[in-house]
Amino acid sequence: MASTLHGKDILRTDPLTDAELDLILSTAAHFERELDSGQHANRMAGQVMAAMFFEPSTRTRLSFEAAMHRLGGDVITIADPKTSSAVKGESMGDAVRVIEGYADVIVMRRPRKGSAQEAADAVSIPVINGGDGAGQHPTQALLDTYTIQKEQGALDGLTVALAGDLKNGRTVHSLAYVLARFDTELIFVSPPQLRMPARITDGLREMGVTVIETEGLADAVQESDVLYMTRIQKERFEDPEEYERLKGAYVLDSAMLELARPTITIMHPLPRVNEIKPEVDAHPGAAYFRQAHNGVPIRMALLALVTGRN
Ligand code: CP
Repeated sequence: MASTLHGKDILRTDPLTDAELDLILSTAAHFERELDSGQHANRMAGQVMAAMFFEPSTRTRLSFEAAMHRLGGDVITIADPKTSSAVKGESMGDAVRVIEGYADVIVMRRPRKGSAQEAADAVSIPVINGGDGAGQHPTQALLDTYTIQKEQGALDGLTVALAGDLKNGRTVHSLAYVLARFDTELIFVSPPQLRMPARITDGLREMGVTVIETEGLADAVQESDVLYMTRIQKERFEDPEEYERLKGAYVLDSAMLELARPTITIMHPLPRVNEIKPEVDAHPGAAYFRQAHNGVPIRMALLALVTGRN
């Protein structure tokens, strides 16, 4: 079957169709089975992925690079903007037009919301958004969804709590739009200053999703099948004192989990700072390192699908 994603950009999760989402998840499961069996089909031999990261990253950049290597393709990278001609004043539009001649697909992270869309508008090769400021992080949401499906065995019938910096956390913006497609109840846990943007919450409610907003983490822990903790995004605060006031707003520890459902799945996009105490790592539901590892098959699927090599 021809991929419905061939030639497409992956910039946000809300425009993805249900069929495209199914295709991404099933292709990732196929690649994970291949990885587990040690097979390497070299589907992307001769193809080049350009990674342009203008904000720090460990998981997104390295798992995209690992994914491309596992598929037999090659990688060119700007890992530090100080080493690119951006420091000489080159515009992003010019840079991606040049890189279009070097690569078959671009993966990019930039600090400004909307920048991945601008890049995609400037070139004809697929652009994958690896995070645009406080906008979206679609590939993270896709690996999160894949993780929930694997850990819980289903995506329907779940209560999912998203906790922390819901204002600036691009992963939760993207994930909420994916979860809204399923029979899911969403609990948004945040301080008032860091609430999920109203345009997202309103949009979810218009889609018929039950959304509960609260400041209380303990109650949400007890009621959830999936608890998704997030970091307070220091780099997005204009007022450092406000960050200092809010940074310890939520800290998950073993005592809080004593009243949780025994089957709870605990997630975090990582990096964590102090939102989950290390003692929680021993909990059988602590899935955040498995979640990070799921980034490889999901990103293999995305690279193969948008380039038509699946
Ligand atoms: N989850 C995530 O985006 O991690 P990195 O910032 O390390 O890429």
